[in-house]
Amino acid sequence: MSARTVPVAALAAVLSLAGCQSVHTQSATPTLEQPVSLRLTTETPLPAASPTASGTPAASLPAKPASAKHSYNRVEGVGRTVAITFDDGPSPKLTPALLDILKARGIRATFYVVGQNAAAHPEILQRMVAEGHEVANHSWNHPALTKLGAAGVESQITRTNAAIKAAIGRNPTTMRPPYGATNAALNRRLDEQYGLKVILWDVDPLDWKYRNAARVQRAIVEGTRPGSIILVHDIHPSSVAAMPGTLDALLAKGYKFVPVAELIAMEGTVAPVAVPSATPTPEPSSVVTAPTPTAAASPAASPFRVEPYASPTP
Ligand code: NI
Repeated sequence: MSARTVPVAALAAVLSLAGCQSVHTQSATPTLEQPVSLRLTTETPLPAASPTASGTPAASLPAKPASAKHSYNRVEGVGRTVAITFDDGPSPKLTPALLDILKARGIRATFYVVGQNAAAHPEILQRMVAEGHEVANHSWNHPALTKLGAAGVESQITRTNAAIKAAIGRNPTTMRPPYGATNAALNRRLDEQYGLKVILWDVDPLDWKYRNAARVQRAIVEGTRPGSIILVHDIHPSSVAAMPGTLDALLAKGYKFVPVAELIAMEGTVAPVAVPSATPTPEPSSVVTAPTPTAAASPAASPFRVEPYASPTP
């Protein structure tokens, strides 16, 4: 029986558990490979009006200017770089142990802290920053923001920002909505009003549900692709126990880790590595961007799957 199986039905059933502090699931979609547009329209239909003319020309990528994006599930065009994120802490017991694990490997991560936990343990946030990690907003006490009014959202965001700023001296620039519960209107508001990009994920080991380090490790290692945003919770001992093996396996595959804010800033800076085909084409004019599996040698639909792990992409 494959422990890797992510039961979609079970995930959907879990939606009714909203309110549990550590349950962390998405609104209505399972996990990998979902386009952002599908993920973000599950809560409330939004007015698609766009009063501000944001037709800024893209600098390098023909697809979409980064400035127009309010949310991310993963990031394209970053080579073999990924971000690992830890939610719901800090935990006074587990988070320092996790920081030791990261430090030993030179890995920088992003911590989506719950505001009330951050306020209780500012010294842990200070250590995070001192060791190069990103501290970011995961609401004050973990409600589904889509169920709150404007004042409720305001309170959740600003109280948490204030706790973070009190601890580390600056506001965060990214946030993760509890349960992944958001919609396009909320994403836009969080970005434009609070300067917070909304960060979801594309790799979810369901570690809050499966308290099994080996399973968590397997799910992450098998699910991670270039540009992935990995979701973990640093409030479960099994999740932290999974990290040494998980991180070592990903490092062995050639992945580099940066905090989320750096990952999205890198968007589009690294051209996807072309599949080494039988006929070498030295012409740099043809930029490989579309995921069209035209190359006969590529078995997968994604251009990232065919990127060799040994690729020396900078
Ligand atoms: Ni959470």
